[in-house]
Amino acid sequence: MIHKEDIDKIFEAARVEEVVADYVTLKKRGVNLIGLCPFHDEKTPSFYVSPAKGIYKCFGCGKGGHAINFLMDKEQLSYPDALRSLAKKYNIRITEEEQSPEQLQTQNDRESLLVVSSYAQKHFSENLYNTDEGKSVGLGYFKERGFREDIIQKFQLGYSINHRTVFTDIALATGYKMDYLVKSGLTIEYKNENQTEKNTEEQENVAETKQENKYLDRFWGRVMFPIHNVTGRVIAFGGRTLRTDTKKIAKYINSPETEIYHKSDVLYGIYFAKKEIINQDNCFLVEGYTDVISMHQAGIENVVASSGTSLTHGQIKLINRFTKNITILYDGDNAGIKASFRGIDLILEEGMNVKVLLFPDGEDPDSYSKRVSSEELKSFIKNNSKDFISFKTNLLMGDVQNDPIKKAGLIKEIVESIALIPEAIYRSVYVKECSRIMDVEEQILLNELNKIRSKKFNEKRNQSNSENLSSEENLGSEVAALEEKKENAIADAEHQERDIIRILINYGNKNLFIDSDEKDERGKAVQIEVSVAQLIIHELQHDNIVLDNLLYNSIYNEFVQHLEKDTVPDFNYFVSHENVAICGLTIDLISSPYLLSDWEKHSIYITKEENILKKSLENAVYALKSRRLEMMIHDIQKRLKENPPEEELMTLMPQLYALLEAKKTFNALLGRIVVK
Ligand code: CTP
Ligand code: MN
Repeated sequence: MIHKEDIDKIFEAARVEEVVADYVTLKKRGVNLIGLCPFHDEKTPSFYVSPAKGIYKCFGCGKGGHAINFLMDKEQLSYPDALRSLAKKYNIRITEEEQSPEQLQTQNDRESLLVVSSYAQKHFSENLYNTDEGKSVGLGYFKERGFREDIIQKFQLGYSINHRTVFTDIALATGYKMDYLVKSGLTIEYKNENQTEKNTEEQENVAETKQENKYLDRFWGRVMFPIHNVTGRVIAFGGRTLRTDTKKIAKYINSPETEIYHKSDVLYGIYFAKKEIINQDNCFLVEGYTDVISMHQAGIENVVASSGTSLTHGQIKLINRFTKNITILYDGDNAGIKASFRGIDLILEEGMNVKVLLFPDGEDPDSYSKRVSSEELKSFIKNNSKDFISFKTNLLMGDVQNDPIKKAGLIKEIVESIALIPEAIYRSVYVKECSRIMDVEEQILLNELNKIRSKKFNEKRNQSNSENLSSEENLGSEVAALEEKKENAIADAEHQERDIIRILINYGNKNLFIDSDEKDERGKAVQIEVSVAQLIIHELQHDNIVLDNLLYNSIYNEFVQHLEKDTVPDFNYFVSHENVAICGLTIDLISSPYLLSDWEKHSIYITKEENILKKSLENAVYALKSRRLEMMIHDIQKRLKENPPEEELMTLMPQLYALLEAKKTFNALLGRIVVK
């Protein structure tokens, strides 16, 4: 744990322009610096650094943040590690809080498990090259499959001797502790009293186990595929049997979940693929170890495998760190198609783009890449990858051509996938595409889409109402859901609320002079100085307005709490906020192209918002209030359409008139301000 004071010191010292300059050549552009974005491929610079604000923002790919975010993103560091690295750069001495014995223990445990795993990898590789059995059986197998020497070494493949305790025995003799051998899953401990608790993976071992053998190797008589984490350290293994009677035993045995191996967050091959994924801005997703390896051998390196488990959100997020584009390459058999359908929806939900390529029935990337040349494989992938709608329709259209009911079912299924996409723009592109391919009117698809989206929104709202709302994910989904609500034309005030927050964050601590009720001796109103935040909060509280958007509301509440202590937070406070959703929003709000650009230099005169702050503020407050009135009017009108009973009508009508009157007044106010 790094002390809060030290973190503050690091934030103060770390100049974003200096940290970025270690990676990007920056040129001065007015008050800002500009360069080629290090996070995506571009020829004309759209990457801005604002030394004054302490932030960077790419208007091409959208990445943005402060100095620490930059390091985290660029070097794939954790938050504390990024802080440590900056402390070093700026010669700041940090006193790390003493870790509790538990914390130390966990850290040591993890490190020990990594060390044991690395040892095991070396052991298995040694077997492959330096034992007779390894050479003839293991290496023989790889050679027979056509794996090249350099590829075998690159992936650190190995072999486990066909004996029940060789690995454990040698590891113990070398000085590794049984405790970690067991915790890493490399050794299986059979406790005499609970023989019944064995899982299926272990049953293979159990059959021949005698009671006196308490510790057995998990992997024996198998070729070994070490699994690496993103930084290239071995965290687990997959072992393939060489026996052909694979009905009796599992073809692959994998390490169990351990402290260093969380299956659902790991992708096989990610360490070897990440650089090329960034370069190609695309990631190929295949099913198994051998597919990854064969593709590398064919010169295609941006490839990872989900390895037997069905694809998870954690795995997609991992890819999302490097690219937004995934191409699924699966077998053309039924299982492969099913798996690809599931994968498509998960990827869309994550806001990423997905293409699919099915290999001819009976082929997978491994077998296909062996049959054709590298060039042929590459062009096959290029020419046959389909976006998910064409993929689904082409695949299913054959069955449904002459069956309107089946066709409707297919359309519905596709629209359901489209409905998962978080961004409206992409949804509309896909709706157009679907309309074209399926020959259905766009409006019909849109109606269906909106039905699904609003149903989902309601489900989400009910769910999040009953859950703890402070969690980031809820905020994220709530933001998405609110966006949805707007689109469904049920008027909301998202836009207006955002503008309020934008002004609060950018100018909340600026002071304004306003007339008070008091008069001086000459009868002129006495001016008092108040902060923008005070004014806005006063205005909203006056009308009991609470922000609907939870993310905005939590920022707003922080202002309220600070004001109670007579302080006003500035944008820096939110830029380095512990809630990353707040951080991200802040970066967006303080770095609009307008705010970051340098118009004066080009002799274009644009009124600085700072100079017309009072008007901006009034404008934003009135716009929100006016929108809220609209929403109330909308609700009443809706109720009126439902023919409510007489007595309800009697209360609704006067309410409606009052609201319409109030709205007129606000519109007049707004109009006046807008015209000025
Ligand atoms: N898998 C597994 N356990 C099994 C079968 C498969 O964990 N019993 C995982 C492995 O990661 C494997 C992937 O699922 O790589 C795909 O399975 P499969 O296509 O059967 O294996 P291949 O990798 O193609 O292996 P091979 O070509 O040697 O048959
Ligand atoms: Mn295979």
